[in-house]
Amino acid sequence: MQITAKDTSLLNWTGNSLAVGFFEDATELTGDLAALNEKLSGIVQELITDEEFKGKSGTTAIARVGSQNGIRKLILVGLGKQEDLKLDSYRRAGAAIARAAKQDSSLGVSLPLEGAANEIAQALTEGIQLALHQDNRFKSEPEDKAPKLESIELLGLAGQDAAISKGEIMVSGVILARELVNAPANEVTPISMAATAQELASEYGLELTILEQADCENFEQGMGAYLGVGQASDIPPKFIHMIYKPEGTAKRKLAIVGKSLTFDCGGLNLKVGGSGIETMKMDMGGGAATLGAAKAIAQLKPDVEVHFICAATENMISGKAMHPGDILKASNGKTIEVNNTDAEGRLTLADALVYTETLEVDAIVDLATLTGACVVALGNDISGLWSTDEALAAELKAAAENAGEKFWQMPLEDKYFEGLKSQIADMKNTGPRPGGSITAALFLKQFIKETPWAHLDIAGPVWSDKPSGINNSGGTGFPVRTLVNWVFQ
Ligand code: BES
Ligand code: MN
Ligand code: ZN
Repeated sequence: MQITAKDTSLLNWTGNSLAVGFFEDATELTGDLAALNEKLSGIVQELITDEEFKGKSGTTAIARVGSQNGIRKLILVGLGKQEDLKLDSYRRAGAAIARAAKQDSSLGVSLPLEGAANEIAQALTEGIQLALHQDNRFKSEPEDKAPKLESIELLGLAGQDAAISKGEIMVSGVILARELVNAPANEVTPISMAATAQELASEYGLELTILEQADCENFEQGMGAYLGVGQASDIPPKFIHMIYKPEGTAKRKLAIVGKSLTFDCGGLNLKVGGSGIETMKMDMGGGAATLGAAKAIAQLKPDVEVHFICAATENMISGKAMHPGDILKASNGKTIEVNNTDAEGRLTLADALVYTETLEVDAIVDLATLTGACVVALGNDISGLWSTDEALAAELKAAAENAGEKFWQMPLEDKYFEGLKSQIADMKNTGPRPGGSITAALFLKQFIKETPWAHLDIAGPVWSDKPSGINNSGGTGFPVRTLVNWVFQ
C-alpha cells in the first residue's frame, strides 16, 4: 500500500473510492462539496438525507456512484463540529476512511485543510495505517480479509511526502509495540524482549547493553527489588539498556523506562478469578512502547540522545518465590517490605530508576501498566501522569495533544506516603486501597534523587477490547507517539 500526496482537485480525481470530509454543523453543501454534488447529479445531498448523516467525528456514509463519473464509490466522512476540529480529527477521519475503503484498490482523500499541512498529512497517514493494521500472526486461517488498498492519494497535500514518511515511521513504532503486547507470554519473554532489542540495535545502529542476572546483582548495592520479583521464574531476567546517539552534539539527554513484566500472575498474592490474570501478558506494555519509540526515534534521528530501559522479568510462583513479607534491598540501599507480591512493577522500576539516574540525563519518563486503581480513576482511554517537574509535565502534555493520546495529571501527594510506612523496613510496597495509583507513584519517587522525572500509569489505554478509532482490538501501542513527539520538543 502506498500513500502519496497530490494536488489534484476532488472534481478531477478518478479511481475506485473518493472520501470527502463533512462537518457536523454543516447546514448546506458549500465549496468543493457543492461542486462535487453538482458533478454527481445530487448524490452527495441524497446520501446525507437518506442516511440522516450527521457528520459526527469518525462516522462514514457510503454511496455507489455510476462509474461514468470516474469514481465508483463515494465515502462521506464526519469531521465533528468545525469549531472542535483538531489534529486528531484528521487521524480519526483517516482511520474511518481506511475501514470503509479497505476492500477497494485505490482511494482519494479530500478533506478541508485547517492547520499545518505537514501535521495533517502525518496524522492522516497514521490514522489510515493504524486502522488497517491487523495482527493475524496467531491465526492459521485469518477470518478478517486482508486490506486490498494499493494506492491512497491525499488530495491538496502535494509536497508533504516527508510528512507521510514521518507518519509511516511513527506507525512502524506503534505496530511494534502493539505486536509485542499482543503476543502471549509463551512467545514474548525476557529473553525474546532482549532479542528484539538486539534486532533493533543491529538494524538501526543503536548501542545496546544487556545486564544479566549477575550484572544486576553487582550494580551498586545490588538490584534486590528487581531480582526479587523475577526469582520464581524459570526464565532469566534481562535488563535492557539501549541508546540512540545523534551524529552531532546532543541538545539534550533523555531516558525512557518501561515496565516490562512479560507475565504478572501476582506471585504468591496470586491473582484470583476475575482479576484478569489471563490478560497479564500486557504487563510489558511500558517496555513494548519503549522499544516501539526506540524504533521510530532511531529512524527519525532527532538531535537528542535517548536511553531506553526495560527491566524485563516475569512475576511467577514456585518454591523460590518471594514470600509476602520478605524484605528486599534496592540498589540505592533502600529496604522494602513486600506486603503484596502483586505490586511487583514498582519493585522492578525502583532499580531501573536508580540505574537510569546514574546516566546523568536531563529528564526521565517511566511508563508502566502499574495499577488497576489508575484504571478505576481514569478509565480505559486516559493515562495518569505524575511529575516532580512542571516543565516536564507540560512538555509531555503538549506532545500528547499532538499525538492524539490522553493524559491527566495526578498529584504526588506526599502525605499519602504515610500509607507506605513499614514497622520493619524503610517502606512497604503497597499502601491502602484509596489513592492506590498515587501511592504507587510516591513509591517510585523514593528512587529518584534530583533528575526531573515523570511517571505515566498506562494500565488502561495500553489495551483495547474492541476496535475503536485508530485502534483495533488488542494492544494499542500507547503512548509511542507521545514519547516520540516529546523527544523532538
Ligand atoms: N500489572 C498490574 C496492574 C494492572 C491491572 C495492569 C490491570 C493492567 C490492568 C499490577 O502489577 C498489579 O497487580 N497491581 C495491583 C497493585 C495492588 C496489589 C496494590 C493492582 O492494581 O491491583
Ligand atoms: Mn501485579
Ligand atoms: Zn504488574
